[in-house]
Amino acid sequence: MSSIVWLRLLLIFLLAVGHVSLWIWLFNRINALGLQRATIKRLEKMVVLLCLLLPFVFLFVEWRYGLWGNSWQQVWDRIQEPQFYRRGSIATLIYFGAVLAFLAWTAPRWLAHRPAFAVAKKRYHLVHRRLEPRLHKQNPHWVMGAKTRYSLALPGNEILSLETNIKRLFIEQLDKAFEGMKVGHISDIHLMGQISPDFTRYCADWVVSNGAEVLVLSGDLVDDARAIKHLESAFAHLPSDLPKVFVLGNHDRAYGLVEPARDTMVGMGWLDAGARDWQIHSTRGAIQILGSELPWLDRHTYSTSNPIAGVATSSRPKMILGVSHSPDRFPWAKLRDCHLLLCGHTHGGQIRVPGIGPIISPSWHGSRFASGVFYEYPTVMHVSRGVSGTHPLRWRCPPEASVLELASRPSEPSTLPVGSKK
Ligand SMILES: [Fe+2]
Repeated sequence: MSSIVWLRLLLIFLLAVGHVSLWIWLFNRINALGLQRATIKRLEKMVVLLCLLLPFVFLFVEWRYGLWGNSWQQVWDRIQEPQFYRRGSIATLIYFGAVLAFLAWTAPRWLAHRPAFAVAKKRYHLVHRRLEPRLHKQNPHWVMGAKTRYSLALPGNEILSLETNIKRLFIEQLDKAFEGMKVGHISDIHLMGQISPDFTRYCADWVVSNGAEVLVLSGDLVDDARAIKHLESAFAHLPSDLPKVFVLGNHDRAYGLVEPARDTMVGMGWLDAGARDWQIHSTRGAIQILGSELPWLDRHTYSTSNPIAGVATSSRPKMILGVSHSPDRFPWAKLRDCHLLLCGHTHGGQIRVPGIGPIISPSWHGSRFASGVFYEYPTVMHVSRGVSGTHPLRWRCPPEASVLELASRPSEPSTLPVGSKK
C-alpha cells in the first residue's frame, strides 16, 4: 500500500479513538457535576446521540466534498477546489483538529493513570483476596427482579459474584495505637428490590466477622422508596457496640430518599457523617470522622442536631477518617489531614476492558480513581467497587467487600508513587 493509504488509515484510527474519547470524557464529567438526575440523563442522551451520529455526518461530508485521493497530488488538487471550503467541510476539519488536539492532550495523562500504573501499590499489601462467583446459584432467593434474572444470563456477568479482600494500608504518620486497626468498607449497595438485601447483609457480615472495628458505608444506599425497609434487613442485626458510619450518595438524592434513608440508618445506630463530624472513642484512642456528600448534598442545608452523639474535643485526634461518596473529594480529605479516605460511586467502572481497564467512570478524573488504593500526601484513599448498581452488568469488575488493616510506614519520598506530593 502507498504511504497515503497508510496515513489515511492511521488518521481514521486516531480520529475514531479521539472522537469516542472526547464524548466519554464529557459523559464522565457530566456525572461528576452534582446536577439533578433528570438534567444528567438529558445530557447523557445528548452525548450518546452526538457520539453515534457525528461519524455519519463526517462520512457524508467526506463523500460530498472528499479530501482524500489516491495520491498526494489528488489531495492537493481537492484542497484547492472551491467546494472543499464550503461550511460542512470546514466545520469537519475544525472538529477533526479539535479531536486530534484533545487526543494529544489526554492520551499521555490517561496512560499515566491506568490502574496498572497509577494505583499506589507501594501503599498497600493484599493480605487476602477471594472471589466467590455466581453466589445466586447457592442463594437463588437473592434474585428478586426480572432485570436481574435476565441480566444474569449474559455470559460473564458478575453482579452476584463477590470479591472479599483484606488490604493492609500503609498510613502516613500512623499513631502506634492504631497499628493493625481494621476498618470495614462497603459501598454503593443500591437497594431497589432487584437483588435481595441478604446480599448486602452477606457483605456486611463478612466484613464484621473478619474483625472490622468500625464499619463504613460510603453512599448510594437506596434507589426505590419501597427498598427503605431493606436497609433494616441488611443492617439491623449488626452489633450495637460496633461503630458504623455512613454518608449518602447521588442516587439517594435522585430518588428523593435522603430523609427516610438518614432516619432509618440513624435509627439503627449508624453515625451520619453527611450531617456532621463525629468523634468515636475506641480502646485505641479517639477517631475523628469527617464526612462529605458533595457535590450532591451539602451538610449546611440540613440539621446537624443528630441525637446519636459523638463528643467534641479540642485535642487533635490521632486518627482522622474521611468518608465521601465521590473520590473527587480527595483534595478535601488531604486539606483536612485525613489519614484515610473511603469512597465509592465509580463502581470500578463496572466493565473492565482487557488491557485498557475501566472506561465509564462518573468522576471529574474519569477512570483515574475508578477503584483501588491511591495516595497523595498525607491521605491514603480507598475507592471501593461497591456492592451493586442500577445497571445490572459487571464484567471483570465484581462487587467488593473490604477490610482495611492499617499499618505504619515511615515517609520515604524516593519510593512514593507517581502523582504523590511531599
Ligand atoms: Fe453508586
